[in-house]
Amino acid sequence: MEIVLEKISKLRGNIAVPGDKSISHRSLILGSIAQGETRIYNFLNSLDCLRTLGCMQALGGKIELDEDNSVKIKGKGLYGLKEPKDILDVGNSGTTIRLLAGLLSGQDFYSILNGDASIRKRPMKRVVEPLRLMGADIWGRKDGQFAPLSVRGNKLNPLHYTLPVASAQVKTALLLAGLYTTGGTIIKEPLPTRDHTERMLEIMEADIKISPPEVKVMGGKELKGADIFIPGDISSAAYFIVAASILKGSQITIKQVGVNPTRTGIIEILKKMGAKIDILNYQIKSNEPQADLKIEYSKLKRIEIGKEGVPFLIDELPLIAVVATQVQGKTVVSGARELRVKETDRIKAIVSELKKMGADIEEREDGFAVNGPTRLQGAVCESYNDHRIAMSLAVAALLAEGKTVIQSSECIDISFPGFEKTLKKLINF
Ligand code: S3P
Repeated sequence: MEIVLEKISKLRGNIAVPGDKSISHRSLILGSIAQGETRIYNFLNSLDCLRTLGCMQALGGKIELDEDNSVKIKGKGLYGLKEPKDILDVGNSGTTIRLLAGLLSGQDFYSILNGDASIRKRPMKRVVEPLRLMGADIWGRKDGQFAPLSVRGNKLNPLHYTLPVASAQVKTALLLAGLYTTGGTIIKEPLPTRDHTERMLEIMEADIKISPPEVKVMGGKELKGADIFIPGDISSAAYFIVAASILKGSQITIKQVGVNPTRTGIIEILKKMGAKIDILNYQIKSNEPQADLKIEYSKLKRIEIGKEGVPFLIDELPLIAVVATQVQGKTVVSGARELRVKETDRIKAIVSELKKMGADIEEREDGFAVNGPTRLQGAVCESYNDHRIAMSLAVAALLAEGKTVIQSSECIDISFPGFEKTLKKLINF
């Protein structure tokens, strides 16, 4: 499949974006191991989250997804999952494989996790190593570096651990394993990362203590099912926030977007660049803040982003490269080596595709540097089967002279089914 887009003048109108991906994965996993019923509203019905749903069902989870994207789970309790009869297939989803590696380490059965070619290249040692320290029997190719992973669940010991990489997936895997120990597991982060797991564990009445940079969970205490209202995914909203900020005459509103401070790096950075973004109707639902975002065009200026800011906008960094092509001067992103081990090498991918469109962009080991402004030219671009690269290029296409073709765009369904339709709504207001 391909998306064909042309230059447009502005975006206008009101939209909502689908539910948050990180919170959707977590709600399925925690709902399945809680006691009693969990109801999820505005679940993200996308390929990645459906993989977690399939895996949890294969583990005996009683999960029903309705047409209105609400989900009903009859919780099994901490010790109610059962051995899957076949390999658990996580598809393209890094969140699924890493979170489940943690969960499965504490189960009294054997399981195997595998995924697509991209998943089999992504680093797994970051979860395998600390899980082994907890006593997990977990293996993978090249001594646990790569999937497939196989796990023979075990009695686990509590862990005191400082994460070597700032990763919410690793933190979550260890907290999930921590639920199956007899004692307190303490995870310390080098930099704060998204805290959706901690917030959901709180509403499910886990024995958890959050004292940044540490979080402590006590094992053995049953969780309680809850109602979970999932806000719109700020990482999906980001494509429109950026497009409206750089297209003259734009004014849009995005309803009920998650504005958890560990995720709003894109808003903070754009504001520092001079963007006009208003946060309206702020409220907290299911322990997660959400708000309507009103974005108007504004002239932006260059910025430098270093490693401290990276986890708060890790998935939006390819979009920063697109914005940077439109502002005066040199924009630099550093300390973002993690981008090289995402669904694809996102540094290489965005640099190569924006170059095709005429951008003055330089690849660096841990980020990129862009000299702007440039007039982008339409081109035939590759998504590298990475949803965030495909959608970032779609934003670039709106600025480029002539036609842009984004090849292998079906990967967008990984996180944002209906992306093109939502974009067209703002174009044809
Ligand atoms: C996620 C954490 C981040 C992010 C990914 C989702 C999560 O990955 O890039 O899209 O749901 O915990 P890392 O933990 O590898 O940084």
